[in-house]
Amino acid sequence: MRFLVSPNRLHHLFLAEWKSAYPRARLCASPGLRRKRRDLAFDAELGEVPAPEWAADIDQVLVRGSPLTEVEFFHRASRTVIFGDLIQNFPRGWFTGWRGVYAHFDGICAPNPGTPREWRAMFLNRRAARAALQRILAWSIERVLIAHGEPAMTDGALFVRNAFAWLLT
Ligand SMILES: [Fe+2]
Repeated sequence: MRFLVSPNRLHHLFLAEWKSAYPRARLCASPGLRRKRRDLAFDAELGEVPAPEWAADIDQVLVRGSPLTEVEFFHRASRTVIFGDLIQNFPRGWFTGWRGVYAHFDGICAPNPGTPREWRAMFLNRRAARAALQRILAWSIERVLIAHGEPAMTDGALFVRNAFAWLLT
């Protein structure tokens, strides 16, 4: 394990444990995480340009435009894009009762995966977000891995486009 990365400043909970398990791995902060986790000694902050150590294999884009910037990665060889929280795709029936109703209206369930609605509303700079999305869609995407829910193993570009219809139209 050479690198430990946080895709956004919500995903950081076990970095200390990972770092103690892999002390020689370099710890990479998502934008804003350094301020939040002053207890961790980060080696670098993720930016628009991939680190030289992985640039040949993995590209990355920062999706700005909301208070929570997220880093998306693209593994060229497998044509796989990796999203953190910006696309969520919980299977039908994952949530029950009022949570199910809420999740449905939050736009994070199959067959209509996407960004949680309260987060969509926080994208005040849609131009910046759209520009990031265009860079992502320029990748030759086949598969999409996400932190929450079912991945897309085929037609990944269409999956991403549909998940961001709220932003692109
Ligand atoms: Fe998450």
